[in-house]
Amino acid sequence: MNDVQNQDDLYIIVEDFYKKLLADDKISYIFTDVVKIKLEEHLPILVTFWSQAIFGTGGYFNNLTQIHLDVNMKSYLSKELFEIWLTHFEAAINENFEGFNCERMKNMAHNLSTIMQIKIAQQKAE
Ligand code: HEM
Repeated sequence: MNDVQNQDDLYIIVEDFYKKLLADDKISYIFTDVVKIKLEEHLPILVTFWSQAIFGTGGYFNNLTQIHLDVNMKSYLSKELFEIWLTHFEAAINENFEGFNCERMKNMAHNLSTIMQIKIAQQKAE
């Protein structure tokens, strides 16, 4: 298997990832009911985000943590939901690619997940 090398590869991952998320009742409601995402708009944003993170291509300017704090205000994002999210994300990578960039993506997702959960706990305490 190849490593992730370009934006086409990232598109394969995010498409597979959302197929898994939307097929899982334990988390799909967040994307269909709490926030009604439009995949044709959402997937290119995810590709831009990961392309900036992994290839340094730029173009992502949103506040990722704040976006998830806003989702959390509408419906609590529990530790369990983060674990489910990470499981599907890792599976979408591992089933399609392998290598250094894959490991960087998985590490980054873990780190961001931890940061988001800390911010969510702070938000709850406010
Ligand atoms: C419980 C776990 C998570 C859930 C349920 C979740 C859910 C969501 C939802 C509903 C959106 C769309 C928000 C909107 O358009 O208003 C979104 C956007 C996004 N999420 Fe998550 N997320 C989770 C964890 C993560 C993690 C750990 C990452 C780390 C990479 C991440 C990366 C992104 C990115 C890049 C976007 C696009 C933001 C933008 O539109 O600029 N998410 N997420």
